[in-house]
Amino acid sequence: NIKELYRNESEYIGKEVTVGGWLRSKRDSKTFGFLVINDGTFFEPLQIVYGDALDNFGEISRLNVGAAVIVKGILTATPQAKQPFEIQASVVCVEGNSAPDYPLQKKRHSFEYLRTISHLRPRTNTFQAVFRVRSLIAYAIHKFFQERDFVYVHTPLITGSDCEGAGEMFQVTTLDLDHVPHAEDGSIDFKDDFFGKPTNLTVSGQLNGETYAMAFKNIYTFGPTFRAENSNTTRHAAEFWMIEPEMAFADLQDDMILAESMLKYVINYVLEHAPEEMAFFNQFVDKGLLERLQHVASSDFAHVTYTQAVEILEKHNEEFEYKVSWGCDLQTEHERFLTEKEFGRPVFVTDYPKEIKAFYMKLNDDQKTVAAMDCLVPGIGEIIGGSQREDDYDKLVGRMEELGLNKEDYDFYLDLRKYGSARHAGFGLGFERCVMYITGMGNIRDVIPFPRTVNNCEL
Ligand code: 4AD
Ligand code: MG
Repeated sequence: NIKELYRNESEYIGKEVTVGGWLRSKRDSKTFGFLVINDGTFFEPLQIVYGDALDNFGEISRLNVGAAVIVKGILTATPQAKQPFEIQASVVCVEGNSAPDYPLQKKRHSFEYLRTISHLRPRTNTFQAVFRVRSLIAYAIHKFFQERDFVYVHTPLITGSDCEGAGEMFQVTTLDLDHVPHAEDGSIDFKDDFFGKPTNLTVSGQLNGETYAMAFKNIYTFGPTFRAENSNTTRHAAEFWMIEPEMAFADLQDDMILAESMLKYVINYVLEHAPEEMAFFNQFVDKGLLERLQHVASSDFAHVTYTQAVEILEKHNEEFEYKVSWGCDLQTEHERFLTEKEFGRPVFVTDYPKEIKAFYMKLNDDQKTVAAMDCLVPGIGEIIGGSQREDDYDKLVGRMEELGLNKEDYDFYLDLRKYGSARHAGFGLGFERCVMYITGMGNIRDVIPFPRTVNNCEL
């Protein structure tokens, strides 16, 4: 592939090589021509020189941008040219020509336009860089946890529970909605549904993950999650991937140490293994990205409690659309103020009021706040949400009763507090937000191959 030719140039110069790729541009004259092809492994394209000695010269001359070809020939050094080498083609095999209305032409297309052709945008430089880095980040995350003996657990996508208690679930049913059986009180009767009860796509693998942490000590999940949030923003998707580590015998401090070292590890890994892509983002997408990430990787994250954060934010209330007071949930504008203006680096906000957090979080001694943490980063806001879990059976039941949760649905979860309960903590990293943060891309729709957002489920 083209990356290999660039990486180990000296091994290939003067030798015959074979490369397949898609045509980016073409120049030709009566007796010879140039093809520039890209194969998705690297930014730098490869130039092919072909002449009328080839018996399919006519066919090659008729190629349109986007065509797929396999080329064989000697790799020749071109010290005078912009590219270090080119191929003198002895064979140009046309796998498939492209129609003349190919939508990707040489000019720069807007991200908005490219979203309408999500099946073709991976053939552009920006999206090739984004999706190579997305792949690398996923690998780095696995590597981080595997090196630390965390067991990768596959939690189910179809569940009967609402981990976050926000009611933002996509229902899963095989019932014919036009002819659903109703119970006497008018509610839908799920007795005849596939699972015999209401089910939904998971909003988080955490509850299942906790059960495995209580057996394997340290685990992580890495999979798709779904939220029917009616938030049409640049950082919300209906289908996104989440990484959820869970550690037994760990508290909130341990949780934050893990989160910080994971983010730093992943940043360093990408800076080291995708230098060309990162330089590209720094030049074309987000000037200052490299400097910022290098700074993040080498300095400590800030820490502030929710109560302190509210005191800071209240002083700037006139700048905000939503005014802040103790008890309110922090909006993106507040999160970004804290991490960008107040601290100028990633910050952990801890100990939120229990009313605005999920039922499973451990109650602090003040009885008002819970052992929660959100990690906020510049440009995005919340990238991680986590907590120490309530490990006391009676306190957890009390909290569930306060919130009106159905105890039977959580029998398995309560059992963990009955059979060898242990202090434990974990967090969820939004994978796409992490990709946005590291690439500098400003819209979650541009870091997901086929994004699902409000009113959008193309392809
Ligand atoms: O803060 P959240 O809701 O936390 C949980 O789901 C916990 N069960 C995690 C845990 O403790 N195991 O979500 C975690 C992260 C957020 O910080 C955010 O990065 C991301 O998931 N996230 C979304 N990303 C994209 N689109 C959405 N609609 C998202 N909702 C949450
Ligand atoms: Mg959250």
